[in-house]
Amino acid sequence: MSKKLAIVGGTGAVGRVFIEYLKTHQLPIEEIKIVASKRSAGKKIDLNGSSIVVENIENFDFSSVNYAFFSAGTEVAKKYAHLAKSCGCTVIDNSSCFRREESIPLIIPEVNGEILDTLKLPEIISNPNCSVSQLLIALKPIHDLYKIKRVDVATYQSVSGTGKDAIDELTKQSKDYLDNKKIEKKVYSSQIAFNILPGAMRPKLDNGYTEEEMKMTWEAQKILDKDIQLTSSCARVPVFYGHSEAVHLETELEIDLNEMISKMNEFPGLEILDDDSKFLPNPIDNAEGSDLVFVGSIRKDLWQKNRINFWVISDNLRKGAALNSMQILKRLIENN
Ligand code: A2P
Repeated sequence: MSKKLAIVGGTGAVGRVFIEYLKTHQLPIEEIKIVASKRSAGKKIDLNGSSIVVENIENFDFSSVNYAFFSAGTEVAKKYAHLAKSCGCTVIDNSSCFRREESIPLIIPEVNGEILDTLKLPEIISNPNCSVSQLLIALKPIHDLYKIKRVDVATYQSVSGTGKDAIDELTKQSKDYLDNKKIEKKVYSSQIAFNILPGAMRPKLDNGYTEEEMKMTWEAQKILDKDIQLTSSCARVPVFYGHSEAVHLETELEIDLNEMISKMNEFPGLEILDDDSKFLPNPIDNAEGSDLVFVGSIRKDLWQKNRINFWVISDNLRKGAALNSMQILKRLIENN
């Protein structure tokens, strides 16, 4: 049966990638609506030869669609997701609004997608934080083999994870810096061009970690294993697209490197890179515009047989956001 779909935040960084996927992923969708703030209402967006007029969320009738993908931030999710559900519309929300709510599924289809098969729609489903999705795609096959006890991860997160205004800020600050002009700061409280911002977001929480850092712990425990001990140090870096992560982990069982690599190579959406002639994996050569999660620079720990170190990178707007949500939507449509 054909369905109707709304993309809330369709004018934003993730929303636009989601719209791109609708051109290539064949879904039985009879009508697509694009919704944003009143600032964008009336603008036109091209999709498969037709021009869709952006609608103002304040006047939008959620009973006119079966599914809505939300990527418009926490406040919009808080205000409209339950309203949409009460109108019979299933919401896939990309914000952090509901991720920690026990009753709301937090899904990476390759890791815990079977939860989707048990849902009775309409529902609200949360899409994980972008740094978490790529990390758990790499961790899942290792966890299945050797049971991961502890993970220490440092992230190098691109500005597109913050949204389109942050992309514009990095562009402008980079030009102004090279032209010796005054640097304006709107999105981040410190200069992002040619700089590194520890914590990736502000403010810090009471325990000294930023919410961006704690999201990784909370979400990995909810999706992969409630007992996993994960600590992260997040940073925002002057990269436009693609998050990089340096991962150090410890397992209960001893790691057999060849077995681990072959299991990771079989895992859907994961690719191992080991070309030593380049600095791989990296955001520009590998991640930007790709649907895959790349793992490279795999190193056995120098001292312990149950520890391993590697890099994970992926396009944060894709597997980290729009692609993961598209996969959720596909599975829901197939099931219903
Ligand atoms: P708009 O373009 O009208 O501001 P990004 O994550 O790249 O910053 O994009 C955020 C998305 O969420 C945009 O599509 C933006 O629409 C939308 N958005 C932001 N605030 C609101 C709001 N109050 N109501 C509806 N949509 C919103």
